[in-house]
Amino acid sequence: MELGRADQMIENVVGVYALPLGVAVNFVVNGRDVVVPMVIEEPSVVAGASFAAKLVRKGGGFQATTTAPEMIGQIQVLDVADLASACSDLLRAREELLTLANETDPVIAKLGGGARDLEVRILDETAVGPMLVVHLIFDCLDAMGANVVNTACEALTPRVEEITGGRVLLRILSNLADRRLAQARCTVPVDALAFGDFSGEQVAQSIVEAWAFAAADPYRAATHNKGIMNGVDAVVVATGNDWRAAEAGAHAYAARSGRYTALSTWSRDADGNLVGTLEMPLALGTVGGVTRVHPGAQVALKILGVKTACELAEVVVSVGLAQNLAAIRALATEGIQRGHMRLHARQVAIAAGAHEAEIDWVVQRMTSKGVTRVDVAEVALKEVRNSQHG
Ligand code: MEV
Repeated sequence: MELGRADQMIENVVGVYALPLGVAVNFVVNGRDVVVPMVIEEPSVVAGASFAAKLVRKGGGFQATTTAPEMIGQIQVLDVADLASACSDLLRAREELLTLANETDPVIAKLGGGARDLEVRILDETAVGPMLVVHLIFDCLDAMGANVVNTACEALTPRVEEITGGRVLLRILSNLADRRLAQARCTVPVDALAFGDFSGEQVAQSIVEAWAFAAADPYRAATHNKGIMNGVDAVVVATGNDWRAAEAGAHAYAARSGRYTALSTWSRDADGNLVGTLEMPLALGTVGGVTRVHPGAQVALKILGVKTACELAEVVVSVGLAQNLAAIRALATEGIQRGHMRLHARQVAIAAGAHEAEIDWVVQRMTSKGVTRVDVAEVALKEVRNSQHG
């Protein structure tokens, strides 16, 4: 991206910060072969996703679905004298309020999106007393929706104050986008999981046991879900979408029962094959915002071959499930360090000061010593340089 373009995007621009863009391969999503662009600084993620997608391909690939792209906009109302009657008055004015919301973006309404519903909630006990919350449900079509929803919520303010007799404070979308969900499912034939001394049966069972740990324990669930987000975020960033929104939604959704847990599930089917599912909110756009401004995002969407935000979310949720499979398969068998350190070694060599032509040598020396650390790389680099000059 050019500096001039960056300068149009945010404030006080002093440069452009680059990250590696890789492509994950082997993905089949809803019967379609997909090459997946991923922007990420961490080694092993692209390789892990590609490896897991290859296993899943043997079981027919990922089946993914999405709900309607409906976002929730929140309007906070304070100082309401009679909460119950304010609620029924608001619900009685539902049609009028939805029409008002739609007038803020006639284009999206004309295309078939727009305000869908109004919900009213009472928060009885807050630090400042009771309050009322209006939820505006808005179908954002292929936009992420933050701007359109926030604008609509702001437009409703005077009428909501009139109807409730209260005082509106916040008007903002919720990142707990639990009406805009993406689901992926995959089956890996048990035999495809065998490798080295591990039978397919052992690997499948160990993966289910690893998942059970995350399902039962928030300390493990946080890391399990971080592994999912390694894949999700990398595609979200590549396509110019808001990865903080994806993160916030994912973790809030993981805690929706009141106890934080794993976003995915892993089990065995009647034939012993491994079955994985992942469901999470994904508020992604293919139009508007950075997706249209960042040239890299445009290319990423082209590589993916997706036209709608729902199609994009179907790929992203599949990548999240693949990434999760790659991580827990490695963790539940040989551990992740062996494969990871092999890939990480190149970054360690660079951190030790190795130039491009020296990296392979330094990595080789570290590998032969069986230790991947910057101090070891520094010694290896000296050895390499001495041997070249001596
Ligand atoms: C590292 O970035 C991600 C993992 O920790 C995920 C997991 O533990 O499931 C390997």
